[in-house]
Amino acid sequence: MSIGVLFVCLGNICRSPTAEAVFKKRLADHAWLGAQVHVDSAGTGAWHVGHSPDPRSIAAAQKRGYDLKSLRARQTCTEDFSRFDYLLAMDHNNLSHLKQIAPQGFKGQLELFLRYSAGNQTEVPDPYYQSGDKGFYDVIDLIESASEGLIDVLEKRLG
Ligand code: 4NP
Repeated sequence: MSIGVLFVCLGNICRSPTAEAVFKKRLADHAWLGAQVHVDSAGTGAWHVGHSPDPRSIAAAQKRGYDLKSLRARQTCTEDFSRFDYLLAMDHNNLSHLKQIAPQGFKGQLELFLRYSAGNQTEVPDPYYQSGDKGFYDVIDLIESASEGLIDVLEKRLG
């Protein structure tokens, strides 16, 4: 059995590509799990389709040991609901957009990514319009925490 995980934000240049890279790295530390899970990211908006992640996200991720440089933005599409079992939104707006385009009868998980985090924050705040780098490091902290929780859930499901 193979499980698909899709991380979703607005532009697919800050939060969701960071989640994709962090989660792929966590999976690489759990080789047997990594072989059974495929991971991607997408944005609900189309403004940045084909673009690299935001340079501020690339720089923050690089300092924390993650490589975002090869990722390219794409928009969410209907096929995502057949290719992926977990569609994990970074904030409530992304989640309600996904719910609007979800085909009737979608049986997968459509939820906020931070549901898997140990903390009590529910959304990964959009760092795009924030000045300074702190928001980009906060994004990584939140994503790392939720990634640990999601790894635990998938280990139990597939183990
Ligand atoms: P992301 O951040 O959703 O985390 O990729 C954003 C990137 C671009 C825009 C908004 C949010 N934008 O409006 O262009």
